[in-house]
Amino acid sequence: MTFDQTRWVWRNGDIIAWNEANTHVSAHALHYGSGVFEGMRCYETDDGSAVFCLDAHLDRLYNSASVYGIEIPYAREELADAICEVIRQNEFSSCYVRPLCYYGSSTLGVHPAGCPVEVVILTWPWAAYLGAESLEKGVRVTVSPWLKFHSQMIPTTAKACGQYLNSILAVRDAVSRGFDEALLLDTDGHIAEGSGENLFIVRDGQLVTNDERHSILLGITRDVVMQIARDLGYRVETGALRLDELLNADEAFFTGTAAEVTPIREVDGVPINDGHPGPVTEQIQEIFFAATSGRDRRYKDWLHLVAPQQVEISYQ
Ligand SMILES: Cc1ncc(COP(=O)(O)O)c(C=O)c1O
Repeated sequence: MTFDQTRWVWRNGDIIAWNEANTHVSAHALHYGSGVFEGMRCYETDDGSAVFCLDAHLDRLYNSASVYGIEIPYAREELADAICEVIRQNEFSSCYVRPLCYYGSSTLGVHPAGCPVEVVILTWPWAAYLGAESLEKGVRVTVSPWLKFHSQMIPTTAKACGQYLNSILAVRDAVSRGFDEALLLDTDGHIAEGSGENLFIVRDGQLVTNDERHSILLGITRDVVMQIARDLGYRVETGALRLDELLNADEAFFTGTAAEVTPIREVDGVPINDGHPGPVTEQIQEIFFAATSGRDRRYKDWLHLVAPQQVEISYQ
């Protein structure tokens, strides 16, 4: 990915040029990771560009912020409008959207007392997160030597900047050993999640995923996929996922805003089933993209149009 095509950034209420979107080196968040963020995707649809699950992402952003005492000085509607505005200004028909709310510069005591809350929104085009072939052929993952931190240490349901150091350790290790992505276990030895994705397994025609008891971020794509799977008539269960269950699964896949629905074809060299994406994964992936593109009208409420169609007013 690159930022080459991004010309405008939203910062604290204004659209500013990319080159001007700087922050001071004394910003609290730069030192301690004290910020919260979201990752959304805007997709091209027949009705124009639309942000997928904007409401759910904004809900999570405000919830993450409240965990860390970050008071976002903008109403939800203002941030929703700002997101659409910065997409429009950059003239993106599809892109990734990154709102970030962080403690700025005032003190470098650990307690961010008095630090202003800075709010920015970045957008950029972002193709398949785990590589060009990942959606079609699936990815090779490895079980990370790094455990996912327990939610009593840091609340995993919040999406906060500093929390991603754990993911960075895991993914750097995985990639350095030739894998596409890391799979982190929780402190009880069950599977938690990928460095930036939730996990589903398919077993006997039924889907299983875990939940917040296993120190995961409760993914919005996870919710979307559970809904799609139930609408397709599959049973979906939530509970602990053991490594041996994954290795013996009929199918497995990751979900995430960036990773979308990515099949897993191999875990530490062991193929999942025959090492190819399975039919349930492919079916869910197909409906997922029909939903994001607006082709499947059942899911049109998940799309928030960037430029709602103007009502034609005729003047006599
Ligand atoms: C650690 C982690 N888990 C899961 C997810 C998937 O969440 P979502 O589907 O809301 O993007 C993400 C992506 O943001 C993530 O970073």
